[in-house]
Amino acid sequence: MDKRIFSGIQPTGNLHLGNYLGAIQNWVRLQDDFECVYCVVDLHAITVPQDPAELRQSTREVAASVLAAGIDPKRSILFNQSRVPQHAELAWIFNCVARLGWLNRMTQFKEKAGKNRENATVGLYAYPTLMAADILAYKATHVPVGDDQKQHLELTRDIAQAFNAMFGEEFFPQPEPQILGKATRVMSLRDGTAKMSKSDPSEYSRITMTDDADAIMTKIKKAKTDPQPLPSEIEGLEGRPEARNLVSIYAALAEISEEDVLTQFGGQGFGAFKPALADVAIAKLAPITAQMTTYMQDPAQIDAILDDGAERAHAIARPVLADVRRLTGFLGSSLG
Ligand code: TYM
Repeated sequence: MDKRIFSGIQPTGNLHLGNYLGAIQNWVRLQDDFECVYCVVDLHAITVPQDPAELRQSTREVAASVLAAGIDPKRSILFNQSRVPQHAELAWIFNCVARLGWLNRMTQFKEKAGKNRENATVGLYAYPTLMAADILAYKATHVPVGDDQKQHLELTRDIAQAFNAMFGEEFFPQPEPQILGKATRVMSLRDGTAKMSKSDPSEYSRITMTDDADAIMTKIKKAKTDPQPLPSEIEGLEGRPEARNLVSIYAALAEISEEDVLTQFGGQGFGAFKPALADVAIAKLAPITAQMTTYMQDPAQIDAILDDGAERAHAIARPVLADVRRLTGFLGSSLG
């Protein structure tokens, strides 16, 4: 079977450096070698309450960031999930394949629902079956994601296997996670043991793709560190989560190894390292931010790109769902 890439990103607030280094930078690279389908997952966004006007705006903004980062809408497909009804249709079928026990193990639900589990939406609980549907509606074989999505990919593979076994046919592929690069799990700038995340209440915990040079410099200068100078060897980062995080961010941005970062900065304090890190971050992000602003000045162009992407995505997913309907035993063809 030919390789096909699928990945998604939620339109909830500004994208941050973790999204960029963990996912989007890899999405851009993969376009050179594969057919790629990239999706702004608005159906996933509504698993927690959203303001409708803000959701529309965030969908355009996230599309603009992805385009600005280098996704070429002629080569790759970029669209928003809710436009292609096959995602929701397949998710329902997968809700009838996946078992409660499988979903009960999902750590993301536990983290997001927190203590108030009874009040979480059913959609938040079923988030991973929709994600499996996203991937398998395109029979995607490779899924570039950050480290935090590993468990959801394992569930996707289990669902594919269970579906195939149920209907006695090798219908869906077993999609492989592609956890690539040097920063597959970017940590908060305020706490080296917590993941950098859109939902962290502190703005200083993350660098976003709309931060200007001053904001990036300030956030990196304020980043939590320890009083020791940087070590010259990787082993010296043991037990120093903040130092490790900043070193791996530097390596990922400058596209060099962590060893090379330490060869350059070993023995120096954070007073010297932080401004150098801010410089590489600004050099990498400033052109993307500028390009994103240009896209946002022309929302009609973004909408046209998403329209075209939705049509091309639909053309792939529709026949897959027609086969799924036949295997499942549904009478007649879908109107969607
Ligand atoms: P989202 O929007 O939460 O994250 C988008 C991508 O960014 C990665 N990521 C990180 N990588 C490294 N360090 C971090 N601190 C960090 N934070 C986020 C995520 O791993 C992800 O790759 N559930 C998906 C969206 C989705 C999806 C899909 C992905 C929906 N359907 C189908 C792949 C295939 C998510 O986490 O979105």
